[in-house]
Amino acid sequence: MADIYDSHAHYNDEAFDEDRAELLNSLPEKGVCAVINCGTDIATSEFSLALARDYSFIRAACGIHPHEAAACKGDYLPKLTEMLKDEKCVAVGEIGLDYHYDFSPRDIQLRFFEEQIILANKLGLPVIVHDRESHEDTLNLLKKYKPKGVVHCFSGSAEMAKEVLKLGMYIGLGGAVTFKNARRPLEVAVAVPNDRLLIETDCPYMTPVPFRGRRNDSSFIPYAAEVLAQVKNTSAEAILEMTRQNANTLFGTEY
Ligand code: NI
Repeated sequence: MADIYDSHAHYNDEAFDEDRAELLNSLPEKGVCAVINCGTDIATSEFSLALARDYSFIRAACGIHPHEAAACKGDYLPKLTEMLKDEKCVAVGEIGLDYHYDFSPRDIQLRFFEEQIILANKLGLPVIVHDRESHEDTLNLLKKYKPKGVVHCFSGSAEMAKEVLKLGMYIGLGGAVTFKNARRPLEVAVAVPNDRLLIETDCPYMTPVPFRGRRNDSSFIPYAAEVLAQVKNTSAEAILEMTRQNANTLFGTEY
């Protein structure tokens, strides 16, 4: 299958240290036309930019993930702003809130999320949002600032999805739709109009069935596309084509 636009990946992860170049070079022949590589702190955001310089099908998102917020010392905003102005950077991400792990105190998570949404709006960039068990606070900040963007690996209800869609944002779905207990993401998939859906890996995590437990990469996206096609009464090819167009629209790319 062609037209695979992976809207959320972490090829900087150490899981790819052994064979990163070999794997990335193999992706285009497996149908991958584009990848957004998301940073989670300053170092991985720089790594994302370096990947985008080395591979024509990769673009970078730069941002501070809630897990990394507490460890981010000093004023990170000037450095992040400089990276966001790089022509290879297309989004602020990934940013957000994670009340499942709470690796950073919540007041710090909230401050970083808010500061980075404000920065994205100032620079006219979309945000890539991580929301884990923090639906209410996430939605409140999105409603307050109305950034362009996507809530990735969407884990809220179909009702919450409708709220996000009302704000003009996109919904990102991936490997989780193939899991046995996937009732909720599939209800969300049905609720999302075709022009607001993005597909993603979040690799090396979230590997779809039947490869769960293995390392994920963008070439596995058709397994999620097949499941999405079933609930949306279309073909996997059509899912890949529409998600490619949607990602191009949101990120201002031409893949
Ligand atoms: Ni991620």
